[in-house]
Amino acid sequence: MAHVSFFNGKQIPLEMHKVRIVQKLNLPPVEQRLQAITEAGNNTFLLQNKDVFMDMLTDSGVNAMSDQQQAAMMIADDSYAGSATYTRLESKLHEIFGLDYFLPAHQGRACENILSQTLVKPGTIVPMNYHFTTTKAHIMRNGGAVEEIIASKGLEVCSTEPFKGDMDVARLQELVQQHGAEKIAFVRMEAGTNLIGGQPFSVQNLADIRKVCDQHGLLLVLDASLLADNLYLIKQREASCKNLSIREITRKLADLCDIIYFSGRKLGCARGGGICIRNKELFEKMRGLVPLYEGFLTYGGMSVREMEALTVGLDETMDEEVISQGPQFIAYMAAELEKAGIPVITPPGGLGCHINVMEFLDHIPQAQYPAGALAAALYIASGVRGMERGTMSEQREPDGGELMANMELLRLAMPRRVFTLSQVQYAIDRIVWLYSHRKLIGGLRFVEEPAILRFFYGRLAPTCDWQQKLVAQFRADFGDSL
Ligand code: F0G
Repeated sequence: MAHVSFFNGKQIPLEMHKVRIVQKLNLPPVEQRLQAITEAGNNTFLLQNKDVFMDMLTDSGVNAMSDQQQAAMMIADDSYAGSATYTRLESKLHEIFGLDYFLPAHQGRACENILSQTLVKPGTIVPMNYHFTTTKAHIMRNGGAVEEIIASKGLEVCSTEPFKGDMDVARLQELVQQHGAEKIAFVRMEAGTNLIGGQPFSVQNLADIRKVCDQHGLLLVLDASLLADNLYLIKQREASCKNLSIREITRKLADLCDIIYFSGRKLGCARGGGICIRNKELFEKMRGLVPLYEGFLTYGGMSVREMEALTVGLDETMDEEVISQGPQFIAYMAAELEKAGIPVITPPGGLGCHINVMEFLDHIPQAQYPAGALAAALYIASGVRGMERGTMSEQREPDGGELMANMELLRLAMPRRVFTLSQVQYAIDRIVWLYSHRKLIGGLRFVEEPAILRFFYGRLAPTCDWQQKLVAQFRADFGDSL
Protein backbone atom coordinates (compact mmCIF):
# COMPACT_ATOMS: atom_id res chain seq x y z
CA MET A 1 0.00 0.00 0.00
CA ALA A 2 1.58 3.23 -1.11
CA HIS A 3 1.79 6.31 1.05
CA VAL A 4 -0.97 8.32 -0.58
CA SER A 5 -2.28 11.39 1.24
CA PHE A 6 -5.89 12.45 0.82
CA PHE A 7 -6.78 16.13 0.19
CA ASN A 8 -9.49 15.76 2.87
CA GLY A 9 -6.78 14.98 5.41
CA LYS A 10 -8.32 11.63 6.39
CA GLN A 11 -6.15 8.56 6.94
CA ILE A 12 -7.69 6.07 4.53
CA PRO A 13 -5.86 2.89 3.55
CA LEU A 14 -5.77 2.78 -0.24
CA GLU A 15 -5.73 -0.65 -1.90
CA MET A 16 -2.92 -1.17 -4.42
CA HIS A 17 -4.77 -4.00 -6.13
CA LYS A 18 -8.09 -4.51 -7.84
CA VAL A 19 -10.67 -7.25 -7.40
CA ARG A 20 -11.17 -9.60 -10.33
CA ILE A 21 -12.96 -12.57 -8.77
CA VAL A 22 -15.73 -12.22 -6.20
CA GLN A 23 -17.72 -14.53 -3.97
CA LYS A 24 -21.36 -13.72 -3.13
CA LEU A 25 -22.07 -13.33 0.57
CA ASN A 26 -25.18 -14.05 2.60
CA LEU A 27 -26.37 -12.03 5.60
CA PRO A 28 -29.18 -13.91 7.36
CA PRO A 29 -31.67 -11.92 9.51
CA VAL A 30 -30.88 -11.55 13.22
CA GLU A 31 -33.38 -14.24 14.32
CA GLN A 32 -31.67 -16.75 12.03
CA ARG A 33 -28.30 -15.67 13.33
CA LEU A 34 -29.44 -16.46 16.87
CA GLN A 35 -30.60 -19.87 15.70
CA ALA A 36 -27.33 -20.54 13.87
CA ILE A 37 -25.11 -19.66 16.85
CA THR A 38 -27.32 -21.77 19.15
CA GLU A 39 -26.95 -24.74 16.79
CA ALA A 40 -23.18 -24.07 16.76
CA GLY A 41 -23.03 -24.45 20.55
CA ASN A 42 -22.11 -20.75 20.84
CA ASN A 43 -18.74 -21.60 19.36
CA THR A 44 -17.96 -19.57 16.24
CA PHE A 45 -15.71 -22.40 15.00
CA LEU A 46 -18.85 -24.52 14.60
CA LEU A 47 -20.86 -22.03 12.49
CA GLN A 48 -21.62 -23.02 8.90
CA ASN A 49 -19.99 -20.59 6.52
CA LYS A 50 -23.27 -20.14 4.59
CA ASP A 51 -24.56 -18.33 7.70
CA VAL A 52 -21.53 -16.04 7.98
CA PHE A 53 -21.40 -12.59 6.39
CA MET A 54 -17.84 -11.45 7.16
CA ASP A 55 -15.55 -14.28 8.15
CA MET A 56 -13.02 -12.71 10.51
CA LEU A 57 -12.28 -15.97 12.33
CA THR A 58 -8.76 -16.28 11.00
CA ASP A 59 -6.29 -15.25 8.35
CA SER A 60 -5.21 -18.87 7.94
CA GLY A 61 -5.58 -20.21 4.39
CA VAL A 62 -8.18 -17.56 3.54
CA ASN A 63 -6.07 -14.71 2.20
CA ALA A 64 -6.78 -13.63 -1.37
CA MET A 65 -4.27 -14.94 -3.88
CA SER A 66 -2.78 -12.77 -6.58
CA ASP A 67 -3.23 -13.37 -10.30
CA GLN A 68 0.44 -14.41 -10.41
CA GLN A 69 -0.12 -17.04 -7.71
CA GLN A 70 -3.12 -18.47 -9.54
CA ALA A 71 -1.22 -18.49 -12.81
CA ALA A 72 1.71 -20.30 -11.20
CA MET A 73 -0.62 -23.11 -10.10
CA MET A 74 -0.96 -24.11 -13.76
CA ILE A 75 2.71 -25.03 -14.10
CA ALA A 76 2.82 -27.39 -11.14
CA ASP A 77 4.96 -30.48 -11.68
CA ASP A 78 3.23 -33.58 -10.36
CA SER A 79 6.23 -35.92 -10.45
CA TYR A 80 6.72 -37.68 -7.13
CA ALA A 81 10.51 -37.47 -7.11
CA GLY A 82 12.63 -34.77 -8.69
CA SER A 83 9.68 -32.36 -8.92
CA ALA A 84 10.51 -28.96 -10.44
CA THR A 85 7.79 -27.46 -8.21
CA TYR A 86 9.73 -28.56 -5.15
CA THR A 87 12.97 -27.15 -6.53
CA ARG A 88 11.32 -23.78 -7.18
CA LEU A 89 9.95 -23.60 -3.60
CA GLU A 90 13.22 -24.72 -2.04
CA SER A 91 15.23 -22.19 -4.08
CA LYS A 92 12.86 -19.34 -3.22
CA LEU A 93 13.17 -20.09 0.50
CA HIS A 94 16.92 -20.28 0.16
CA GLU A 95 16.98 -16.97 -1.72
CA ILE A 96 14.83 -15.24 0.94
CA PHE A 97 16.15 -16.74 4.20
CA GLY A 98 19.57 -18.06 3.19
CA LEU A 99 19.33 -21.25 5.29
CA ASP A 100 20.72 -24.29 3.50
CA TYR A 101 18.18 -27.03 4.14
CA PHE A 102 14.40 -27.28 3.74
CA LEU A 103 11.76 -29.78 4.79
CA PRO A 104 8.20 -29.44 3.51
CA ALA A 105 5.18 -30.08 5.76
CA HIS A 106 1.45 -29.84 5.23
CA GLN A 107 0.98 -26.86 7.58
CA GLY A 108 2.48 -25.01 10.54
CA ARG A 109 1.52 -27.40 13.30
CA ALA A 110 3.02 -30.29 11.33
CA CYS A 111 6.35 -28.44 11.50
CA GLU A 112 5.80 -28.11 15.25
CA ASN A 113 5.23 -31.85 15.50
CA ILE A 114 8.50 -32.60 13.71
CA LEU A 115 10.47 -30.00 15.69
CA SER A 116 9.05 -31.10 19.04
CA GLN A 117 9.54 -34.80 18.39
CA THR A 118 13.15 -34.15 17.43
CA LEU A 119 14.17 -31.57 20.01
CA VAL A 120 11.85 -31.79 23.03
CA LYS A 121 12.65 -34.47 25.59
CA PRO A 122 10.74 -35.10 28.83
CA GLY A 123 11.76 -32.52 31.44
CA THR A 124 13.09 -29.96 28.94
CA ILE A 125 11.76 -26.44 28.60
CA VAL A 126 11.17 -24.16 25.66
CA PRO A 127 11.47 -20.47 26.48
CA MET A 128 9.49 -18.29 24.09
CA ASN A 129 8.13 -14.78 23.77
CA TYR A 130 4.61 -16.21 23.91
CA HIS A 131 2.96 -19.52 23.18
CA PHE A 132 0.67 -20.41 20.32
CA THR A 133 -2.01 -23.04 21.01
CA THR A 134 -0.73 -25.78 18.69
CA THR A 135 2.92 -25.09 19.54
CA LYS A 136 2.31 -25.51 23.25
CA ALA A 137 0.25 -28.67 22.71
CA HIS A 138 3.07 -30.31 20.71
CA ILE A 139 5.76 -29.36 23.23
CA MET A 140 3.69 -30.67 26.14
CA ARG A 141 2.85 -33.87 24.26
CA ASN A 142 6.57 -34.62 24.09
CA GLY A 143 7.02 -34.05 27.82
CA GLY A 144 8.40 -30.52 27.59
CA ALA A 145 7.19 -27.32 29.22
CA VAL A 146 6.67 -23.85 27.81
CA GLU A 147 8.16 -20.82 29.56
CA GLU A 148 6.63 -17.58 28.35
CA ILE A 149 9.03 -14.75 28.91
CA ILE A 150 7.40 -11.94 27.03
CA ALA A 151 8.70 -8.54 28.18
CA SER A 152 6.17 -7.06 30.60
CA LYS A 153 5.20 -4.32 28.10
CA GLY A 154 3.73 -7.06 25.91
CA LEU A 155 0.91 -7.70 28.32
CA GLU A 156 -0.10 -4.06 28.68
CA VAL A 157 -3.25 -4.01 26.63
CA CYS A 158 -3.11 -0.33 25.70
CA SER A 159 0.23 1.30 25.15
CA THR A 160 2.35 3.05 22.59
CA GLU A 161 5.11 0.42 22.80
CA PRO A 162 6.11 -0.41 19.22
CA PHE A 163 7.45 -3.93 19.96
CA LYS A 164 5.16 -5.72 22.38
CA GLY A 165 6.29 -9.09 20.99
CA ASP A 166 9.81 -8.65 22.41
CA MET A 167 11.22 -11.27 24.76
CA ASP A 168 12.58 -10.36 28.19
CA VAL A 169 16.24 -11.20 27.52
CA ALA A 170 17.26 -10.98 31.19
CA ARG A 171 14.62 -13.60 32.02
CA LEU A 172 16.11 -15.84 29.33
CA GLN A 173 19.52 -15.58 31.02
CA GLU A 174 17.90 -16.40 34.37
CA LEU A 175 16.16 -19.44 32.94
CA VAL A 176 19.44 -20.79 31.57
CA GLN A 177 21.12 -20.24 34.93
CA GLN A 178 18.23 -21.81 36.81
CA HIS A 179 17.78 -24.95 34.67
CA GLY A 180 21.12 -25.31 32.85
CA ALA A 181 21.53 -25.02 29.09
CA GLU A 182 21.13 -28.78 28.58
CA LYS A 183 17.52 -28.56 29.81
CA ILE A 184 16.59 -26.00 27.17
CA ALA A 185 15.28 -27.76 24.08
CA PHE A 186 15.36 -24.57 22.02
CA VAL A 187 14.43 -20.91 22.26
CA ARG A 188 11.38 -19.96 20.21
CA MET A 189 10.50 -16.53 18.92
CA GLU A 190 7.13 -16.01 17.31
CA ALA A 191 6.85 -13.27 14.70
CA GLY A 192 3.66 -11.20 14.86
CA THR A 193 2.92 -12.72 18.27
CA ASN A 194 -0.54 -14.16 17.70
CA LEU A 195 -2.20 -14.49 21.08
CA ILE A 196 -1.27 -11.07 22.40
CA GLY A 197 -2.77 -9.29 19.42
CA GLY A 198 -0.44 -9.88 16.47
CA GLN A 199 2.36 -7.84 18.07
CA PRO A 200 5.82 -7.62 16.46
CA PHE A 201 9.27 -8.08 17.95
CA SER A 202 12.24 -5.95 16.93
CA VAL A 203 15.43 -6.91 15.09
CA GLN A 204 17.34 -5.60 18.11
CA ASN A 205 15.52 -7.98 20.46
CA LEU A 206 16.25 -10.99 18.25
CA ALA A 207 19.92 -9.97 18.07
CA ASP A 208 20.06 -9.77 21.90
CA ILE A 209 18.47 -13.22 22.18
CA ARG A 210 21.02 -14.57 19.68
CA LYS A 211 23.83 -13.39 21.94
CA VAL A 212 22.42 -15.38 24.87
CA CYS A 213 21.96 -18.42 22.62
CA ASP A 214 25.59 -18.14 21.47
CA GLN A 215 26.85 -17.89 25.04
CA HIS A 216 25.11 -21.12 26.01
CA GLY A 217 24.97 -23.05 22.73
CA LEU A 218 21.19 -22.83 22.42
CA LEU A 219 19.17 -23.23 19.24
CA LEU A 220 17.12 -20.23 18.15
CA VAL A 221 13.93 -21.14 16.32
CA LEU A 222 11.72 -18.58 14.57
CA ASP A 223 8.03 -19.21 14.00
CA ALA A 224 7.65 -17.11 10.85
CA SER A 225 3.94 -17.77 10.27
CA LEU A 226 3.10 -14.10 10.84
CA LEU A 227 6.41 -12.75 9.60
CA ALA A 228 4.90 -10.55 6.86
CA ASP A 229 3.14 -8.28 9.39
CA ASN A 230 6.22 -8.25 11.64
CA LEU A 231 8.44 -7.21 8.72
CA TYR A 232 6.18 -4.34 7.73
CA LEU A 233 5.93 -3.13 11.35
CA ILE A 234 9.73 -3.31 11.80
CA LYS A 235 10.13 -1.16 8.71
CA GLN A 236 7.60 1.34 10.12
CA ARG A 237 8.76 1.36 13.73
CA GLU A 238 12.44 0.40 14.09
CA ALA A 239 14.62 3.41 13.29
CA SER A 240 17.66 1.35 12.27
CA CYS A 241 15.60 -0.44 9.59
CA LYS A 242 13.82 2.57 8.13
CA ASN A 243 16.00 2.63 5.03
CA LEU A 244 16.29 -1.11 4.53
CA SER A 245 14.17 -3.03 2.02
CA ILE A 246 11.82 -5.77 3.28
CA ARG A 247 14.21 -8.28 1.74
CA GLU A 248 17.13 -6.84 3.71
CA ILE A 249 15.19 -6.85 6.97
CA THR A 250 14.16 -10.46 6.34
CA ARG A 251 17.77 -11.48 5.84
CA LYS A 252 18.87 -9.64 8.99
CA LEU A 253 16.32 -11.67 11.00
CA ALA A 254 17.05 -14.96 9.24
CA ASP A 255 20.80 -14.61 9.78
CA LEU A 256 20.14 -14.74 13.54
CA CYS A 257 18.17 -18.00 13.45
CA ASP A 258 19.10 -21.69 13.37
CA ILE A 259 15.66 -22.84 12.26
CA ILE A 260 12.77 -20.98 10.63
CA TYR A 261 9.41 -22.71 10.32
CA PHE A 262 6.14 -21.35 9.03
CA SER A 263 2.52 -21.94 8.25
CA GLY A 264 2.10 -21.34 4.52
CA ARG A 265 -1.57 -20.74 5.27
CA LYS A 266 -0.38 -17.37 6.59
CA LEU A 267 3.08 -16.62 5.25
CA GLY A 268 2.85 -16.62 1.46
CA CYS A 269 -0.97 -16.55 1.22
CA ALA A 270 -1.36 -20.18 0.14
CA ARG A 271 -1.65 -23.45 2.09
CA GLY A 272 1.20 -25.54 3.40
CA GLY A 273 4.25 -25.16 5.56
CA GLY A 274 7.90 -25.94 6.00
CA ILE A 275 11.05 -25.88 8.06
CA CYS A 276 14.27 -24.17 6.96
CA ILE A 277 17.35 -25.42 8.78
CA ARG A 278 20.92 -24.18 8.95
CA ASN A 279 22.61 -27.29 10.31
CA LYS A 280 22.97 -30.48 8.26
CA GLU A 281 22.86 -32.88 11.20
CA LEU A 282 19.66 -31.38 12.52
CA PHE A 283 18.17 -31.52 9.04
CA GLU A 284 19.02 -35.20 8.80
CA LYS A 285 17.50 -35.88 12.21
CA MET A 286 14.22 -34.27 11.29
CA ARG A 287 14.10 -35.55 7.74
CA GLY A 288 13.08 -39.07 8.75
CA LEU A 289 9.81 -37.81 10.20
CA VAL A 290 8.63 -36.13 6.98
CA PRO A 291 7.85 -39.30 4.99
CA LEU A 292 6.34 -40.79 8.15
CA TYR A 293 3.88 -38.00 8.95
CA GLU A 294 3.69 -35.71 5.93
CA GLY A 295 4.52 -37.28 2.60
CA PHE A 296 7.56 -37.70 0.40
CA LEU A 297 10.31 -35.10 0.77
CA THR A 298 9.32 -33.31 -2.43
CA TYR A 299 5.85 -32.31 -1.24
CA GLY A 300 5.45 -33.05 2.49
CA GLY A 301 1.67 -33.33 2.28
CA MET A 302 1.16 -30.15 0.24
CA SER A 303 -0.56 -30.11 -3.12
CA VAL A 304 1.95 -29.16 -5.83
CA ARG A 305 -0.43 -26.40 -6.98
CA GLU A 306 -0.36 -24.83 -3.54
CA MET A 307 3.42 -25.15 -3.51
CA GLU A 308 3.63 -23.10 -6.71
CA ALA A 309 1.28 -20.49 -5.23
CA LEU A 310 3.37 -20.45 -2.06
CA THR A 311 6.59 -19.85 -4.00
CA VAL A 312 5.09 -16.80 -5.71
CA GLY A 313 3.39 -15.70 -2.47
CA LEU A 314 6.71 -15.78 -0.60
CA ASP A 315 8.27 -13.62 -3.30
CA GLU A 316 5.34 -11.17 -3.08
CA THR A 317 5.83 -11.01 0.70
CA MET A 318 9.06 -9.18 -0.02
CA ASP A 319 6.99 -6.32 -1.55
CA GLU A 320 6.12 -3.64 1.01
CA GLU A 321 3.04 -2.56 -0.94
CA VAL A 322 1.69 -6.11 -0.74
CA ILE A 323 2.32 -6.76 2.96
CA SER A 324 1.15 -3.34 4.15
CA GLN A 325 -2.49 -4.00 3.30
CA GLY A 326 -3.25 -6.09 6.40
CA PRO A 327 -1.61 -3.87 9.04
CA GLN A 328 -3.06 -0.73 7.44
CA PHE A 329 -6.65 -2.04 7.39
CA ILE A 330 -6.17 -3.24 10.97
CA ALA A 331 -4.84 0.17 12.03
CA TYR A 332 -7.85 1.84 10.40
CA MET A 333 -10.31 -0.44 12.19
CA ALA A 334 -8.58 -0.07 15.55
CA ALA A 335 -8.45 3.73 15.21
CA GLU A 336 -12.15 3.99 14.35
CA LEU A 337 -13.11 1.75 17.29
CA GLU A 338 -10.88 3.72 19.63
CA LYS A 339 -12.55 6.96 18.50
CA ALA A 340 -15.86 5.43 19.58
CA GLY A 341 -14.38 4.66 23.02
CA ILE A 342 -14.12 0.92 22.46
CA PRO A 343 -11.23 -0.86 24.20
CA VAL A 344 -8.89 -2.36 21.59
CA ILE A 345 -5.31 -3.57 21.71
CA THR A 346 -2.95 -0.73 20.94
CA PRO A 347 -0.79 -0.15 19.13
CA PRO A 348 -2.57 -2.18 16.46
CA GLY A 349 -0.42 -5.05 15.22
CA GLY A 350 -0.86 -7.58 12.42
CA LEU A 351 -3.26 -10.49 11.95
CA GLY A 352 -6.41 -8.62 13.00
CA CYS A 353 -8.08 -6.08 15.23
CA HIS A 354 -8.30 -7.27 18.82
CA ILE A 355 -10.98 -6.11 21.25
CA ASN A 356 -10.06 -6.03 24.92
CA VAL A 357 -12.97 -7.98 26.34
CA MET A 358 -11.80 -7.73 29.96
CA GLU A 359 -12.88 -4.09 29.68
CA PHE A 360 -15.69 -4.39 27.09
CA LEU A 361 -17.51 -6.94 29.27
CA ASP A 362 -16.11 -6.08 32.69
CA HIS A 363 -19.26 -7.48 34.31
CA ILE A 364 -18.58 -11.07 33.14
CA PRO A 365 -16.12 -13.19 35.20
CA GLN A 366 -13.33 -14.97 33.28
CA ALA A 367 -14.77 -18.35 34.30
CA GLN A 368 -17.80 -17.50 32.11
CA TYR A 369 -15.62 -16.94 29.03
CA PRO A 370 -16.32 -13.27 28.28
CA ALA A 371 -14.38 -13.32 24.99
CA GLY A 372 -16.41 -16.32 23.81
CA ALA A 373 -19.60 -14.53 24.87
CA LEU A 374 -18.63 -11.42 22.89
CA ALA A 375 -17.83 -13.55 19.84
CA ALA A 376 -21.34 -15.06 20.03
CA ALA A 377 -22.93 -11.64 20.64
CA LEU A 378 -21.11 -10.06 17.68
CA TYR A 379 -22.23 -12.85 15.38
CA ILE A 380 -25.84 -12.31 16.49
CA ALA A 381 -25.54 -8.54 16.01
CA SER A 382 -23.80 -8.62 12.62
CA GLY A 383 -23.14 -11.99 11.03
CA VAL A 384 -19.43 -11.24 11.60
CA ARG A 385 -17.51 -14.28 12.79
CA GLY A 386 -14.62 -13.54 15.14
CA MET A 387 -12.57 -15.82 17.37
CA GLU A 388 -12.32 -16.12 21.12
CA ARG A 389 -8.73 -15.73 22.30
CA GLY A 390 -8.89 -15.95 26.06
CA THR A 391 -9.60 -18.48 28.80
CA MET A 392 -11.59 -20.77 26.48
CA SER A 393 -8.45 -21.09 24.29
CA GLU A 394 -6.38 -22.25 27.28
CA GLN A 395 -6.04 -25.85 28.35
CA ARG A 396 -7.15 -26.77 31.87
CA GLU A 397 -4.45 -27.36 34.51
CA PRO A 398 -3.48 -31.01 35.06
CA ASP A 399 -5.72 -30.99 38.20
CA GLY A 400 -8.71 -29.85 36.13
CA GLY A 401 -8.62 -26.27 37.37
CA GLU A 402 -9.36 -23.45 34.98
CA LEU A 403 -6.23 -21.63 33.73
CA MET A 404 -7.29 -18.00 33.41
CA ALA A 405 -5.77 -16.33 30.34
CA ASN A 406 -3.63 -13.21 30.71
CA MET A 407 -5.88 -11.47 28.23
CA GLU A 408 -9.47 -11.91 27.12
CA LEU A 409 -9.53 -10.94 23.47
CA LEU A 410 -12.02 -11.05 20.65
CA ARG A 411 -9.89 -11.40 17.56
CA LEU A 412 -11.28 -10.01 14.34
CA ALA A 413 -8.83 -11.32 11.79
CA MET A 414 -8.28 -9.35 8.62
CA PRO A 415 -7.68 -11.85 5.83
CA ARG A 416 -5.38 -10.06 3.39
CA ARG A 417 -7.02 -8.31 0.40
CA VAL A 418 -10.38 -9.98 1.13
CA PHE A 419 -12.66 -7.25 2.53
CA THR A 420 -13.54 -3.81 1.22
CA LEU A 421 -13.36 -0.77 3.47
CA SER A 422 -17.18 -0.47 3.56
CA GLN A 423 -17.40 -4.01 4.91
CA VAL A 424 -14.89 -3.08 7.60
CA GLN A 425 -17.03 -0.01 8.37
CA TYR A 426 -20.08 -2.27 8.75
CA ALA A 427 -18.22 -4.42 11.29
CA ILE A 428 -17.16 -1.27 13.18
CA ASP A 429 -20.76 0.02 13.20
CA ARG A 430 -22.15 -3.18 14.72
CA ILE A 431 -19.38 -3.34 17.34
CA VAL A 432 -20.17 0.24 18.37
CA TRP A 433 -23.85 -0.73 18.68
CA LEU A 434 -22.97 -3.77 20.79
CA TYR A 435 -20.80 -1.64 23.03
CA SER A 436 -23.73 0.68 23.73
CA HIS A 437 -25.75 -2.38 24.84
CA ARG A 438 -22.90 -4.33 26.42
CA LYS A 439 -24.69 -4.82 29.73
CA LEU A 440 -27.22 -7.00 27.90
CA ILE A 441 -24.48 -9.54 27.18
CA GLY A 442 -24.08 -12.44 29.64
CA GLY A 443 -21.65 -15.34 30.03
CA LEU A 444 -21.27 -18.86 28.65
CA ARG A 445 -20.66 -22.28 30.20
CA PHE A 446 -19.41 -25.51 28.61
CA VAL A 447 -21.95 -28.23 27.93
CA GLU A 448 -19.45 -30.37 25.97
CA GLU A 449 -15.78 -29.87 26.75
CA PRO A 450 -13.10 -31.82 24.83
CA ALA A 451 -9.84 -32.47 26.70
CA ILE A 452 -7.48 -31.19 23.98
CA LEU A 453 -7.83 -27.84 22.18
CA ARG A 454 -11.36 -27.47 23.54
CA PHE A 455 -11.98 -24.16 21.79
CA PHE A 456 -12.04 -25.86 18.38
CA TYR A 457 -15.09 -28.03 18.93
CA GLY A 458 -16.41 -27.56 22.45
CA ARG A 459 -20.08 -26.56 22.83
CA LEU A 460 -21.38 -23.91 25.23
CA ALA A 461 -24.68 -22.50 26.42
CA PRO A 462 -25.57 -18.99 27.59
CA THR A 463 -25.83 -18.58 31.37
CA CYS A 464 -29.30 -16.95 30.99
CA ASP A 465 -31.63 -15.67 28.21
CA TRP A 466 -29.36 -12.73 27.33
CA GLN A 467 -29.24 -13.63 23.65
CA GLN A 468 -33.04 -13.28 23.19
CA LYS A 469 -32.84 -9.85 24.84
CA LEU A 470 -30.06 -8.85 22.47
CA VAL A 471 -32.16 -9.83 19.43
CA ALA A 472 -35.15 -7.84 20.77
CA GLN A 473 -32.91 -4.78 21.23
CA PHE A 474 -31.55 -5.21 17.70
CA ARG A 475 -35.07 -5.20 16.26
CA ALA A 476 -36.01 -2.16 18.37
CA ASP A 477 -32.98 -0.20 17.13
CA PHE A 478 -32.63 -1.40 13.51
CA GLY A 479 -36.26 -2.07 12.49
CA ASP A 480 -36.36 -4.50 9.58
CA SER A 481 -32.67 -4.12 8.66
CA LEU A 482 -30.69 -7.32 8.22
N1 F0G B 1 2.22 -20.57 14.59
C1 F0G B 1 1.47 -19.46 14.58
C2 F0G B 1 2.05 -18.18 15.08
C3 F0G B 1 0.16 -19.50 14.10
O1 F0G B 1 -0.56 -18.40 14.09
C4 F0G B 1 -0.36 -20.73 13.62
C5 F0G B 1 -1.72 -20.84 13.15
C6 F0G B 1 0.47 -21.86 13.65
C7 F0G B 1 1.76 -21.74 14.14
C8 F0G B 1 -0.01 -23.20 13.17
O2 F0G B 1 -0.10 -23.20 11.78
O3 F0G B 1 -2.55 -23.54 11.30
O4 F0G B 1 -0.81 -23.96 9.56
O5 F0G B 1 -1.04 -25.47 11.48
N2 F0G B 1 -2.62 -20.00 13.41
C9 F0G B 1 -4.00 -20.08 12.93
C10 F0G B 1 -4.79 -18.92 13.46
C11 F0G B 1 -4.65 -21.38 13.22
O6 F0G B 1 -6.00 -18.90 13.17
O7 F0G B 1 -4.27 -18.02 14.10
P1 F0G B 1 -1.18 -24.10 10.99
